[in-house]
Amino acid sequence: MDVSIADPATTDRRVDELLRQMTLAEKIGQMSQVNVGDSYIHDYLADGVRDGRVGSVLNVVDVDVVNELQRIAVEETRLRIPLIVGRDVIHGFKTVMPIPLGQAASWNPDIVRQGARVAAREAASTGVNWTFAPMIDISRDPRWGRIAESLGEDPYLASMLGVAMVEGFEGEDLTAHDTIAACAKHFVGYGAVESGRDYATTNIPENELRNVYLPPFKAAVDAGVSTLMTSFSDIDGVPATANEYLVKDILRGEWGFDGFVVSDWDSVRQLEIHGLTANDRESAYEAALAGVDMEMHGDAYARYLAALVEDGQLDEQLIDTAAGNILRIKIRLGLFENPYTDPADFPPIADAHALETAREAALQSVVMLKNDHHVLPLSADKLETLAVIGPLADAPYEQLGTWIFDGDRELSVTPMHAIHSLVHDKVDVRYLRAMETSRSRDTKAFDEAVSIAAESDAVVLFLGEESILSGEAHSRADISLPGAQAELVRRIRETGKPVVAVILAGRPLTLTNVVDQVDAILFAWHPGTMGGPAIADLLFGVGSPSGKLPATFPRMVGQVPIYYNQKNTGKPPSPETVVHIDDIDPHAPQLSLGMTAFHLDAGYLPLFAFGHGLSYASFNYENLTISDTELKPDESLTISVDVTNTSTVAAAEVVQLYVRDLAGNVTRPVRELKGFERVQLMPGEKRTVEFELHTDDLAFYGRRNQLMTEPGDFHVWVGGSSETELGTAFRIVAGA
Ligand code: NOJ
Repeated sequence: MDVSIADPATTDRRVDELLRQMTLAEKIGQMSQVNVGDSYIHDYLADGVRDGRVGSVLNVVDVDVVNELQRIAVEETRLRIPLIVGRDVIHGFKTVMPIPLGQAASWNPDIVRQGARVAAREAASTGVNWTFAPMIDISRDPRWGRIAESLGEDPYLASMLGVAMVEGFEGEDLTAHDTIAACAKHFVGYGAVESGRDYATTNIPENELRNVYLPPFKAAVDAGVSTLMTSFSDIDGVPATANEYLVKDILRGEWGFDGFVVSDWDSVRQLEIHGLTANDRESAYEAALAGVDMEMHGDAYARYLAALVEDGQLDEQLIDTAAGNILRIKIRLGLFENPYTDPADFPPIADAHALETAREAALQSVVMLKNDHHVLPLSADKLETLAVIGPLADAPYEQLGTWIFDGDRELSVTPMHAIHSLVHDKVDVRYLRAMETSRSRDTKAFDEAVSIAAESDAVVLFLGEESILSGEAHSRADISLPGAQAELVRRIRETGKPVVAVILAGRPLTLTNVVDQVDAILFAWHPGTMGGPAIADLLFGVGSPSGKLPATFPRMVGQVPIYYNQKNTGKPPSPETVVHIDDIDPHAPQLSLGMTAFHLDAGYLPLFAFGHGLSYASFNYENLTISDTELKPDESLTISVDVTNTSTVAAAEVVQLYVRDLAGNVTRPVRELKGFERVQLMPGEKRTVEFELHTDDLAFYGRRNQLMTEPGDFHVWVGGSSETELGTAFRIVAGA
């Protein structure tokens, strides 16, 4: 049996054999997913499974209920087809890893893979065999609440880490009891919703779609992801769930994807609300025709597909293809052989390995944005009293972040608890929440906060956003610290004590009004179950920060979208051309303007750039060498650089490689990430880091949206952020 699962030809034969025996209604049943929600089996559900009207369920994590549903499916139905059981296992199950955007800040595919592995194992122990993750929507708009679930703004980083997540969930053997099918979502362009307002319209030119939004999905498909989910959003006039060009032509046709495509929650019936169709029947028609194989929670397929076939509007072959795609994944999961789950086959939930993985992921995800006068790390030997203040210092639920249906807040170790257990024998830690929530405007506890701060040797403020402020349908138009937090920072600053801000949030924030009021900032995202110990270790130098920003931090929200891999424009800004609104000469206003692409009040630079992140160590980059300054199509070159830890502390650094194609068939970004490597360096240690760059890595979609590599000049830079200036050049010359 094992061999047959691994062998695609045998799998296809099994699919065909099943399809031959299935009635039209049974095939449509495979295409229908039903929400369970509560942990009991209502008659509609039991009968639906028994009659072959339900091929998949979601939102059930009680193993007894799942096993009973599987029993009905495999013992009481004609063809004994098991159910595929879906759940949003986005960044952990009971043990919660940092939010995906935080994991992306680790720039570490290994830790991302391990986090997904832990999540898969815990989820699988309840009978879940399919997660709706990873979300690999390129997100260049921090107003969008779902940027939290994403892997950031860059196609290359999101591709590498998205693939790592797929590998973590699906493992090396999808039939293993502790691996689950992954779902790359949301196909495609959801991150481009207008003004970051969730579910809003997207307008993405095809060239940008192919160069920016599609690459992570292509990478996931190439890595063998089992399923994809269509986006809620309308893209260029056709909602993704009805978009034949995207699903049929690109995904199936160009990429050869052979898994299945699921709609988003009720997004088939929403085609009518979008104004694309007049009723559910038309919606079922459009979605099925586009190639959406399964309808998530909704009954348009169940109610209308049969009639559409019987009336000759839809070819039954299309239903066979869709049902076959779903059966193929059920076979690959080994569900026909092993439909049941025995929790005894699994390690305990939140075992030492799971917690250690969560802690390491959190540690690597924290980005140190600033550290004036080396105020960090704090020294437990030098401090007598430490003030710990803020609404997110001891908030077990809030540190978990968005999408934690199953996350167990009881497992959370908060920063306050972790700091206390790390240093309580040396330091008197005084804690005050000061604000009920991150949104509170009530300042009545601020006087007490100020007096605690004034009596302490240093202050750590735990600020940011509680978890409800990011995630699905939780977009913000103002992305500064909410409530009275800026006021709290200002009041604490007045004490003259060293102030460290630890910010827990689901998105990049505009920190312009507080950045100069604090000495150091650790940006910890929503760090998950073990966020507390990770943060405590970083504050006291047990470990060094090593995260790097996976998304640009704007100065003002009006700069959005702002991202590092922008186009140059015909009038690129520079320090010389930027004029601030306050400096416009009242006597000759026109003459003082710079006539380049900037904002009069915000300039053109972000507050913190993509790839930025400080360390307790310092790193020196030198000897950038390139194996050849010319290469022909289909050749590679090697770029190497010596990175030395010039400090006295061991630390990790993420070495980043950027490229610019100077003249293209279409305009190319000013910089594009093409490689990165996380290296751990001991004090004084020097490492030569090498990147291999093939001409295929420089390919892009040109004017006719064909993938191409052109002869021409390129710049290349290596360093610790997207702002690195250490560079050289090479040229692709025409082939012989
Ligand atoms: C809607 C979300 O957009 C999607 O990402 C999620 O997987 C489904 N709901 C199921 O909960």
